[in-house]
Amino acid sequence: MASPAFSAPGGVAVVGSGLIGRSWAMLFASAGFKVKLYDVEPRQVTHALDSIRKEMKSLEQSDSLKGSLGAEGQLSLISGCSDIREAVEGALHVQECVPENLELKKQLFAQLDGIVGDQVVLSSSSSCLLPSRLFSGLVHVKQCLVAHPVNPPYYVPLVELVPHPETAPATVDRTYALMRKIGQSPVRLTKEVDGFALNRLQYAVISEAWRLVEEGVVSPGDLDLVMSDGLGMRYAFIGPLETMHLNAEGMLSYCDRYSEGMKHVLKTFGPIPEFSGAAAEKVHQAMCVKVPDDPEHLAARREWRDRCLMRLARLKSQLQPQ
Ligand code: NAI
Repeated sequence: MASPAFSAPGGVAVVGSGLIGRSWAMLFASAGFKVKLYDVEPRQVTHALDSIRKEMKSLEQSDSLKGSLGAEGQLSLISGCSDIREAVEGALHVQECVPENLELKKQLFAQLDGIVGDQVVLSSSSSCLLPSRLFSGLVHVKQCLVAHPVNPPYYVPLVELVPHPETAPATVDRTYALMRKIGQSPVRLTKEVDGFALNRLQYAVISEAWRLVEEGVVSPGDLDLVMSDGLGMRYAFIGPLETMHLNAEGMLSYCDRYSEGMKHVLKTFGPIPEFSGAAAEKVHQAMCVKVPDDPEHLAARREWRDRCLMRLARLKSQLQPQ
């Protein structure tokens, strides 16, 4: 594979124009990349282009559009495509965003494997399918990896880069550089693991949250406050390891002081919850008091969440340490 090829804007193909495909298209265009947006369902592409236009215009109006180009400039970089060969022709990076279905994704990567050359990176947005299941046996396996974004990617910059055992280091390096260039915050996993890093942490939190509510220790509403008004306040700025480091005279001091207490509490953790039955009903009812589960209320709450995330992202960039 050639050396890093993203010093000048080049072509990117986004395959699948749903929720995540649209976000990727906007992010790539914000950094000046030409984007071809392909979908097996042509009406989806038309719909995606309309919704991208509306979102970019609204972001521009609220002074929140990323990148140095205006909305029209960015929109002119994104074109819809109904032919996969045409979509990937000349692309330096292909970002796959089709539904989370192993067979569907394997078929798509086999198809891409047959039509791409050896210069392109083939990247999957998969949230949980392991690279060894997605890419094994492909001729271009060295050029494949998972680049897992976090919803909504336009406001939450993390991208987990997960290699197949045969992925070339240059593929990871190139994708890392590309993600930085479009303003995302990539992290590298050295090997694949179920749930990658983000969902392993998320599931650990959800699991203990569920147990505390199921055992009646705390109400569902108060449990969420423990995160949103407690742990989450600092986790938006520093991670759990730096939290340890700062909460004592450095990490070793923290381990010295608190490891026995932590191990004592950790030994009391219960089994994996079932996430069903009476506990699920109780949590569901409590959540619906706050946000009724009809499409309008859910959409309004998501919009509010996205506005909060946008403001938080701005605050974080203003508060970067010198
Ligand atoms: P979606 O259902 O909104 O969009 C999928 C799109 O792929 C649809 O427009 C569909 O017509 C198209 N499609 C289906 N088969 C195709 C094919 N063979 N070729 C081209 N296009 C095809 O799905 P969404 O939510 O955008 O998810 C896409 C990927 O991103 C999944 O792997 C998902 O796990 C991952 N992801 C999703 C997140 C989320 O919160 N929605 C977060 C992070 C990753």
